[in-house]
Amino acid sequence: MTRIAYVNGRYLPHESAAVSIDDRGFLFADAVYEVCEIRDGEIVDATLHLDRLERSLRELAIRMPMSRAALMVVLRRTSTRNRVKNGSVYLQVSRGQAHRDHVFPDPSVPPTVVVTAKPHDRAKAEAAAEKGCAVITMPDNRWERVDIKSVGLLPNCLAKEAAKQAGAKEAWFVDAEGFVTEGASTNAWIVTRDGRIVTRPAEFGILRGVTRTVLLKVAERLGLVVEERAFTVDEAKAAKEAFITAATTLVMPVVSIDGASVGNGHPGETALALRRAFHAATERTPL
Ligand code: PDD
Repeated sequence: MTRIAYVNGRYLPHESAAVSIDDRGFLFADAVYEVCEIRDGEIVDATLHLDRLERSLRELAIRMPMSRAALMVVLRRTSTRNRVKNGSVYLQVSRGQAHRDHVFPDPSVPPTVVVTAKPHDRAKAEAAAEKGCAVITMPDNRWERVDIKSVGLLPNCLAKEAAKQAGAKEAWFVDAEGFVTEGASTNAWIVTRDGRIVTRPAEFGILRGVTRTVLLKVAERLGLVVEERAFTVDEAKAAKEAFITAATTLVMPVVSIDGASVGNGHPGETALALRRAFHAATERTPL
């Protein structure tokens, strides 16, 4: 039997059901979901699932794509079209389709809605429950692995949007000890009053930016003193200069942090010198 999926108002065979490559669920994990049990032809605990869905959407400022009643129709229809009497129905709502940008798209962009349903073998499930199951333990590192350049960027998007709302370009994440880790999509740097360049070591807690790696070489070539160590927000606010780096921003001077001017409130000389010198140290592959 052909499996049918609901995608943005249409019921389609799974093979042709698709969302855009610009969908924020795909790009940023900027999406929420629910899975409901279907038992004897009925959706189980739909109210609680829809309550949680609404809460998740509200927390992320994604609008409810349709009324609860309309969503229930889609959940039921998708389940019946797939002839699922026992199994589960899956609902995913993303912030929708927009050109890749961490900040939220215009609120007029409609959320993406996908619903699928799949049957399961009740007897088999019961037999498995008779046997029980094994578990293993592991550190709860959801999601500490920011050293991996994964698309699990929802926290980064929320931070970037908060920065935008505050009239800023970037948000710096701060760890539990008050040290700056990195920006939502950039690495963070300061220049101390005595001219030393400080950036957090890349072993843990940040993404090892390529721009960062190359810039360390550039700084060395320019005869600048570099300290790879963590710095606090207070130290950054009191610094002579601050800047951020990424393949998109290159070296971008930071002129204020939480509304307080850095240095004289203008782009710093060191940051601008590093920006000018940057491409001399880069690898260049012709198109
Ligand atoms: N971001 N830290 C984070 C969390 C980043 O997302 C990025 C890059 C960097 C800097 O890495 P690099 O110097 O290799 O660009 C640091 C890209 C540009 C983005 O998400 O758009």
